[in-house]
Amino acid sequence: MRLHDIAVVGASGLVGRKILEVIQERKFETGKIVAIASDASEGKEVNVKGKSYRLQKFSEHVFKNLEFAFFSAGASISREWAPKAAADGCIVIDNSSAFRMEENVPLIVPEVNRQDMFKNKGIISNPNCSTIQLVVALKPLDAAFKIKRVVVSTYQSVSGAGNKGITALESELKNIESKTASPFPHRIAHNAIPHIDVFFDDSYTREELKMINETRKIMGKKDLAITATCVRIPTLTGHGESVNIEFDKKVTPEEVREVLGAAKGVTVLDDPANNVYPMPADSAEKDDVFVGRVRTDSSVKNGINLWIVADNVRKGAATNAVQIAEEYVKGK
Ligand SMILES: NC(=O)c1ccc[n+]([C@@H]2O[C@H](COP(=O)([O-])OP(=O)(O)OC[C@H]3O[C@@H](n4cnc5c(N)ncnc54)[C@H](OP(=O)(O)O)[C@@H]3O)[C@@H](O)[C@H]2O)c1
Repeated sequence: MRLHDIAVVGASGLVGRKILEVIQERKFETGKIVAIASDASEGKEVNVKGKSYRLQKFSEHVFKNLEFAFFSAGASISREWAPKAAADGCIVIDNSSAFRMEENVPLIVPEVNRQDMFKNKGIISNPNCSTIQLVVALKPLDAAFKIKRVVVSTYQSVSGAGNKGITALESELKNIESKTASPFPHRIAHNAIPHIDVFFDDSYTREELKMINETRKIMGKKDLAITATCVRIPTLTGHGESVNIEFDKKVTPEEVREVLGAAKGVTVLDDPANNVYPMPADSAEKDDVFVGRVRTDSSVKNGINLWIVADNVRKGAATNAVQIAEEYVKGK
């Protein structure tokens, strides 16, 4: 068996620590693990499931002779260091938005477009968390019934903004006047903020445009009609998405449930009579994408409504990144 020498950049962060955890859980056979964080963390230890990792800062050629480098320290760090890692022979799996829309960088969700990863030039991008769970459900539906238009509204947890997001919610819940530095533009406790990342001139946010553009790229449907509204809510983990889909032909909720029930990485939870539907609290620490509330939308021709939930730190980031490495090792 071949051991894989790797680096985890952002190893003290929410996603980085989860990558170290998922690697152990999924028995991705690692040899050397280089754990990188900011200069301020140099020498500190990160403990994950009984294993301790000593944090180091970036240094020239730190990636030399490593096979994979998982980056999750933000886009500016990726822009500076991922090309150096790739030049030193590493396959970079990047969780940031830095390269996602670049033509020669594959944007991968293994259940959807596994084969595209082999066209990489040293960097493979991991999509945005809310995009990943959406396409895992959309792709099998598109293959079966051809999707014409998608309208998605998200309900995104605070962990999507990293450790700072969790700290801000927890301190505001203890003291609503808390002035703890927050990554959110308003109080998040007992609130809902229809604003994630910056606004552009057309009044869409960057998070919304990421969902639109990344979905089109991953699904290989450049002209897909899709619109998004992204909202931050005070849940800790797990993003919810209300999704309205118009198909080319008439599709019943039973047919949708059947296709999704057989799809890789999807669990259908849809028994409203018994209060069964996906919820963020139940999706925490799970790797599947959960779908429920499937019903006909009779306000349009061939419309279906459904509700999608997944753990944003796992399938939305860490698990998807580790799956990319696993599939890369398996080869074409
Ligand atoms: N959270 C999610 O659900 C999610 C989902 C998908 C993608 N992502 C993406 O993943 C990345 C990390 O997110 P996160 O939620 O894990 O954030 P986080 O909890 O704030 O962690 C950030 C990590 O980056 C490290 N870092 C910061 N500045 C650095 C520097 N100058 N050099 C080296 N390391 C540095 C931090 O190290 P220190 O501890 O030393 O500061 C920490 O390990 C972001 O690009 C984010 O967009 C996040």
